Amino acid sequence: MARRKKIYEGKAKTLFEGPEPGTIVQYFKDDATAFNAEKRDVIEGKGVLNNMLSEYFMTGLNNIGVPNHFIRRLNMREQLVRACEIIPLEVIVRNFAAGSLSKRLGIDEGTPLPRPIIEYCYKDDKLGDPLVAEEHIAAFGWASQQDMDDIVSLALRVNDFLSGVMYGVGIKLIDFKIEVGRVYDGDFQRLIVADEISPDSCRLWDIATGQKLDKDVFRRDLGSLTDAYSEVAKRLGVMPKGAVPMKPTLIN
Ligand code: TMP
Repeated sequence: MARRKKIYEGKAKTLFEGPEPGTIVQYFKDDATAFNAEKRDVIEGKGVLNNMLSEYFMTGLNNIGVPNHFIRRLNMREQLVRACEIIPLEVIVRNFAAGSLSKRLGIDEGTPLPRPIIEYCYKDDKLGDPLVAEEHIAAFGWASQQDMDDIVSLALRVNDFLSGVMYGVGIKLIDFKIEVGRVYDGDFQRLIVADEISPDSCRLWDIATGQKLDKDVFRRDLGSLTDAYSEVAKRLGVMPKGAVPMKPTLIN
């Protein structure tokens, strides 16, 4: 069998050329990293869970008309997505204070914010994805004003959708990060949600107990990451109760 062409290898995913032009195969690895990869581990089953959960969220977004890159899941670890030009920004939406916002501004984690706050980080691992202002984004041409309007609109729609879905299964959406990509349809270009939406890129707290069900479990050594992600998957009906995520499949 011909070997697939690897396009890019990130910390948690590998991208391969897709079967048709304009498509990409997104492979979810079991690797977990934090603090710009200073802390790393391999968590068996994480890639399978994130593949399934990202499929679930992206499909739901598609169903309510929020455009995103997801085409279909191919197997336990891979999904077919639409190729796009990634805007070099991490778009963070926060509903409650936590993480770097709590540190930066001295606000207790869990404090409700008066309104959702959107922040931007410049995607550059060498720099540690620094927080940037819209002024930097405009001045350095990372996105136009029209792009920024579209990004805010996408981010807030994702926030409403995800908050509601998670609330329905007893989980509070504290914050999350999305990435946005540009696609071309003939002469027109538009922005779509890309990358992944999973507990790697969200903060999810159980409403009843406050238990963390996201990557902070790994960042802060709070227990089993697969147990936390499996709990989210089970509640959403993405994984049947008691199902064990499959072992990694060999690629290449
Ligand atoms: P922060 O509080 O550490 O800035 O994180 C805000 C949100 O962004 C949180 O839901 C975790 C997510 N996130 C990522 O998806 N990737 C990252 O590299 C970082 C630092 C945070």
